[in-house]
Amino acid sequence: MIKDIGKKLGKKIGEGKGRKVYEYKKNSRYVVKVHKAGVVGCNWREWYIWNYYPEYKKWLAPCKAISKCGNMLLQVRGKKARKRPANYPSVFHDLAKSNWVVIKDRIVMCDYANLHMFRKVTGRNYEKTEEEKIRAEDVNREYAAKIRRASELQKSSKRRR
Ligand SMILES: Nc1ncnc2c1ncn2[C@@H]1O[C@H](COP(=O)(O)OP(=O)(O)O)[C@@H](O)[C@H]1O
Ligand SMILES: [Mg+2]
Repeated sequence: MIKDIGKKLGKKIGEGKGRKVYEYKKNSRYVVKVHKAGVVGCNWREWYIWNYYPEYKKWLAPCKAISKCGNMLLQVRGKKARKRPANYPSVFHDLAKSNWVVIKDRIVMCDYANLHMFRKVTGRNYEKTEEEKIRAEDVNREYAAKIRRASELQKSSKRRR
């Protein structure tokens, strides 16, 4: 499911500061959230809170999958909520109405990626989660290896000429 998220973007259904949100073509119960150019971390923060802080799950739109570099996140699609729920945890932040949706008759937050909330929930002050850093290092290592291979190829083809 994770591998083909990007190929299955349906029509755009929303947009915020950090992400564009599309319907998931393969299953209309889901949305795909894609970082805008230059944005990192939003999807990972949401994924991290969803997976490591189960006490908040009943107030959150469930995350189902994330792409390797965190650029795409598959989340359960909700219907527009006209208001916030009667009560929600005090650590929640960025309470704009557009950040709440209705899933199975519950009003839940669909945008829980902001840094302020992340700090309050996790006690971390990092923009990137540990996993994200490790993955970023892996990607950088892969990238460095690719560049090295390409320049070696170039050198050896020059030598042959
Ligand atoms: N799970 C979802 N279900 C339905 N609509 C969503 C969902 N997630 C986001 N959206 C829509 O897309 C808009 C942008 O998504 P959001 O998560 O707020 O991105 P950003 O982090 O850039 O603000 C939201 O305001 C909402 O209208
Ligand atoms: Mg938002």
